[in-house]
Amino acid sequence: MSWLRKVLADKLPPDKLELVPRGFEHIGHVAILSLPPELEPWTAVIASTVLDVGGVRTVAVRRGPIHGWARKPVVEVVAGENQTETLHKENGCYYKLDVARVMFSKGNTYERQRVAKLVRDGEVVVDLFAGIGQFAIQIAKHARPSRVFAIEKNPVAYRYLCENIRINKVGHVVVPIYGDCREMAPVGVADRVVMGILHVGHLYLPLALKTLRPSGGIIHYHETSPCRLGFERAMKRVREAAGTRRIEFLEKRVVKRYSPGVNHVVLDVLVGPADTSDKDFRRR
Ligand SMILES: C[S@@+](CC[C@H](N)C(=O)[O-])C[C@H]1O[C@@H](n2cnc3c(N)ncnc32)[C@H](O)[C@@H]1O
Repeated sequence: MSWLRKVLADKLPPDKLELVPRGFEHIGHVAILSLPPELEPWTAVIASTVLDVGGVRTVAVRRGPIHGWARKPVVEVVAGENQTETLHKENGCYYKLDVARVMFSKGNTYERQRVAKLVRDGEVVVDLFAGIGQFAIQIAKHARPSRVFAIEKNPVAYRYLCENIRINKVGHVVVPIYGDCREMAPVGVADRVVMGILHVGHLYLPLALKTLRPSGGIIHYHETSPCRLGFERAMKRVREAAGTRRIEFLEKRVVKRYSPGVNHVVLDVLVGPADTSDKDFRRR
């Protein structure tokens, strides 16, 4: 039995207890619960229990899916301080954010560390969907890129991106760019492109290819994929976008379960030179 169910065992009837989620997202001082509608009358009891957890000062409940191009969450504070702006620490980096206004997925924690470890000294990285700097900050902190261009279209996320660059003292490496990556992405400069967006990432694959150096580089391509398709649809989309340009799939991994029957997957794609007659396509 999960810790939360154990501590609620004498407060909820058994049929309700089994609906209690195993845990919650703990971002900075905020705990975010996803409760099924049947637990609505028990929200206050559950929230006051979660409020006792060390480091939690605010308890919020998800009231809908993260939505729209800006990936806006819908959360409501149900216990504790009515303060959703927080400072979250992950892997030695600090992220300031308002959990009611911008998304932050703890399910991507390992993926952020993994990508930061792959970056080689002197690389130019372009993060096309930077958010509050989830990838850009860790790359700048834990690797030695010469530049990380971090592009973000949502003004709220962009403001936190700039603040997080300052808090983490990576302003000498990370260049924040406000706007739509379709207009603002630098062309032909990147050794590595991070495409940390779901649902629409495939529409931006041609842009990611243009962002790479003419000699090629690596793209981290994310998508949500029905589990029964494995990596097939994601690989097909990358192959189609690459056309005659040579590619090699260096890594295929499930980042997390996104929803029942659907995975969040990522592909690390080594892309060859734009000039397809160039023979210099080798594993980096
Ligand atoms: C799902 S969030 C992911 C943030 C971060 N990359 C991560 O993986 O945790 C996607 C971000 O991309 C931004 N975005 C969406 N479309 C964009 C575009 N065309 N140009 C730049 N940013 C965009 C959204 O505002 C949002 O902050």
